[in-house]
Amino acid sequence: MRHLIDILDFSKDELYQLILTAKDMIEAPEKYADAAKGKILATLFFEPSTRTRLSFTSAMMSLGGDVLGISEVQSSSVSKGETLADTIRMVAAYSDIIAMRHPNEGAPIVAEQVSTVPIINAGDGGHFHPTQTLTDLLTINRKKGRFNKLKIGVCGDLKYGRTVHSLIAAMSRYGDNEFILISPEELKLPDYVKAEYLDGKCKYTECTSLEEAMSKLDILYMTRIQAERFDSKDEYERLKDSYVLTLDKLTTAKKELAIMHPLPRVNEIAVEVDDDPRAAYFEQAANGRYIRMALILKLLASKKDEIDAGRTGACSAELECKNPHCITRTERGIKHLFKDGKCIYCDQIASNK
Ligand code: CP
Repeated sequence: MRHLIDILDFSKDELYQLILTAKDMIEAPEKYADAAKGKILATLFFEPSTRTRLSFTSAMMSLGGDVLGISEVQSSSVSKGETLADTIRMVAAYSDIIAMRHPNEGAPIVAEQVSTVPIINAGDGGHFHPTQTLTDLLTINRKKGRFNKLKIGVCGDLKYGRTVHSLIAAMSRYGDNEFILISPEELKLPDYVKAEYLDGKCKYTECTSLEEAMSKLDILYMTRIQAERFDSKDEYERLKDSYVLTLDKLTTAKKELAIMHPLPRVNEIAVEVDDDPRAAYFEQAANGRYIRMALILKLLASKKDEIDAGRTGACSAELECKNPHCITRTERGIKHLFKDGKCIYCDQIASNK
């Protein structure tokens, strides 16, 4: 059975097919009005969300299906101490497909291990957010008409920004792209992301100045500083306004620049930029509904015996995952598994005990 845990669970061909389907849904939504009739989507959100949860709900309703779900931990039996694995077993018995968001990295992998229905990762801690990347890819396709030969500036919180990690994983697979990674020193892209997707695979540079990078960019992907992931409130306060995009800063930018942002924004894009023709972020959010419709149909059509992504690993007496945000820190009764020296749940390089 197919799941979407990591954007690389889908081949480039599969991603392109999803984009074509989503574009057809934009053109002729009535063709799909009964495509998921009789099916139920469960939305299981243990972290706040506006766009992802509601666009999944809207997507399933637009396909003629039904939706049930929870939007906070307090309204579920997780608050009584139920494990994630048991929660998923139950929700899978009441639905045909599950979209889940969880604060711990690797939580959707625990879910796929026990689920009898497809699991969609709607964001796991500061790790990955593959359905945001589907939304981003549809937006890039509609704005640029290509996925290669693009200079992509990614600006803000590259450490905790899960949308950035998934976007880099996806776009580094296409030829001749170049990333310019713009962040404060403290919020640089994690080593595990660089090692897996960039080093020796895709051109990139790191810098701290948005103004210096601006004139080179085809795409500027702004991100919020992720307050909820910081251990220190003082550190967040010091870094929160590191980048604020204003019209002044766009004077050197290309006329065809696409300004993207996964949203929500806080202060990192001034409201005055919204009326600039290069601002693509609200259109980007709207695209989320259609690409999620295409995703739901693809996963509902996947067969129980279809090959999954093969996220398997081995126990190791020598290794441990030191990531305090890994699902192995909170979920009872799961094995700590490692592959190629990395935790299979959160991808962090494992340490010797
Ligand atoms: N982009 C995104 O994930 O937004 P929400 O947190 O509102 O779902």
